[in-house]
Order: sequence, then structure tokens, then C-alpha cells
Amino acid sequence: MYTLGEFIIDNRDRFLYSTESLLRLFSSIKLAAKAINKEVNKAGLTKTIIGSSGIINIQGEHQQKLDNYAHKVFIESLKSRNVVCGIASEEEKNFIMIKEENDNFSKNEYIVLLDPLDGSSNIDVNVPIGTIFSVYIRKSSINTNITLEDFLQEGHKQILAGYIIYGSSTILVYTIGNGVYGFTLDPTIGTFYLSHPNISFPEKEKIYSINEGNYDRFPIGVKHFIKYCQENKGNRPYTARYIGSLVGDFHRNMIQGGIYIYPNHSHSPNGKLRLLYECNPIAFLTEQAGGKASDGTKRILDIKPSSLHQRTPFICGPINMVNKFEAFMNKSKI
Ligand code: AHG
Ligand code: MN
Ligand code: MN
Repeated sequence: MYTLGEFIIDNRDRFLYSTESLLRLFSSIKLAAKAINKEVNKAGLTKTIIGSSGIINIQGEHQQKLDNYAHKVFIESLKSRNVVCGIASEEEKNFIMIKEENDNFSKNEYIVLLDPLDGSSNIDVNVPIGTIFSVYIRKSSINTNITLEDFLQEGHKQILAGYIIYGSSTILVYTIGNGVYGFTLDPTIGTFYLSHPNISFPEKEKIYSINEGNYDRFPIGVKHFIKYCQENKGNRPYTARYIGSLVGDFHRNMIQGGIYIYPNHSHSPNGKLRLLYECNPIAFLTEQAGGKASDGTKRILDIKPSSLHQRTPFICGPINMVNKFEAFMNKSKI
């Protein structure tokens, strides 16, 4: 049984940056994940954790109590390990500047972006939810205040990305750019063990995942792609699977072979998913698992962000399936 801590130490040479700070960063992520896991598991038992907090967040969505809880737990945990200089969260309008005691700024190098609770509409109905994280090295010099530019970096500059799913079991999946690894939590002793070494998309094209309730609103290329998925030809029709938690839908598709699509549509011209908190980390994992992530025409990881809460259409999955999707999008524009 290989623990996450042992695995990181044994693979430290593959990490281009400071191993000591990577270990501290992981230790804070693990701590927060365990605390949230505990709350999620008893969500059905206590009214203090399920339901809306009564707040509309920066995304214009009803913030759930667990969104808020997960946000706070992660911030506190990251701060306590003294390893990050700035954090941005889907749940907060502005980025958070970490300051050290007796100092106006932090000398730490890591910038962390978080979707503390992904799939929050599924909290009250026992469907998998998760946390998504993304890490960069700051651009500003260490003896200055961090700036917005530290957060608005292209996704290909990520040094670490991953997610935790609080599901039938709790799993932490991450990449530092040398493959994708999954660790399952043994809740009895609170330790993550390596359960999914070197995850990659299987050859088989099996699943398509999209909220088809929006069908009438989709661009014509998306409609044609859906019909292609449903066609009775060759290895098709594909199976339709959609939970409504990006982490859960993506994890299943990466293990079983499938494409995830959240396109723009007439009521959501830029799509729904957030580039910095959701799409970039999942795109990094996708590529590391041998897949492709696109906004319909171009690579997600090459987009230069212009704001923290920017949205983008998002398509990820096995290369051939995403290429096919892009071909339908291109054809519909001619
Ligand atoms: P969040 O809970 O962080 O706001 O994210 C919800 C996202 C994503 O997890 C999911 O794939 C998508 O919203 C589902 O949206 P629809 O309900 O519009 O399909
Ligand atoms: Mn989300
Ligand atoms: Mn969220």
C-alpha cells in the first residue's frame, strides 16, 4: 500500500520546483479534503450543512452552505502551511493576498485557484461532488505584493492541478505534468493510498456527456455532433451519461472513455464553466491522460485569461472524439 505522502517523496525528482513546498502544499490539500469529506458524509444528517446559505455568489448562483464551508476550510488550510502567496476562489470576487506575520506580503511562490465545491446542486441528493485545484508559480517578484496578473496565466503554465471527489469513495487525482495519479482515502485511518497509477483515456470511445436539456439553445455544430453520437453506426451510438458535477462526469469519462461537453448556448454565450477554476485544471489533467481539451476551436491551455471569473465553452475527452466535435463545429461555420 503506497501512500500519497510516500509517492510524492519517491517522485520528487520529477517535480521541477521545490519538493519541500510541494509536500507542504499537498499536506494542506489533504487536510482540507479530509475535513470536507467528513462534512459531506454527514450532510444528510445535519441541517447546518445542507441547503442554501442565502447568499448569491459572484457567479450569480445560490451559494450552498457547503460551498462556503469548503471555501473557508481550503483557505485556512492553505494559509496554515505557509506555502502560498495568493488564492482565488470561485466563491470570492477578488483574489486573496496572503500576508506573513510582521510583513505586508508573502515570500511564498505558489498561486492557488479553487473551485471549493463543484457540483453543488448535487449536495442535497447524495450525488458525487468535488473540489478542483490549480497551482501556478507567481509572476511577481517575491518581495512585492501579488497582482491580478499572477492569477491570469495561461493554463499551460500550471505546475500542479487536480481534484477530489467525495463520492462512493473519496479520491484525490492530480498531475504535476508527468501523468495522472489517483489516491483513494481510507476513511478509517484518514490516509490516501495509490489506487489509480498512471490514468489514461482508454482506446474505446464509449460515452458522451452533455446537458441535452439545452438542446434547442445549442449552436448547430453541437446539435449535429449529438446526432452523430446517437447514430447507429460502427461503435455508435455512444452511451449518454451526465451527472451535473464536472468532476464526477470527467472522472468517469477518463476511466471509461468519453467526451464531456459544456458548450456556449443562446442563454449562455460564453458557456457556463469557469476557465481558471474548472476548465484549466481539468484540461491539464485531460492532456496528461492522453486526451484533448478545447473550447470548440482552440486549445484551452493556450487561452490568455482576461478576468478571474471568466467563462468558456469546454470540451474534453479522448483526442479522436474531441477532433470530431471540432470538425462538426468548423463545418457548421462554413
Ligand atoms: P459549481 O457547482 O462549482 O457551480 O459547478 C457546477 C458546474 C459543473 O460542475 C457542472 O458540470 C455544470 O455546472 C452543470 O451545469 P448544468 O446544470 O447547467 O448542466
Ligand atoms: Mn464547479
Ligand atoms: Mn463550485
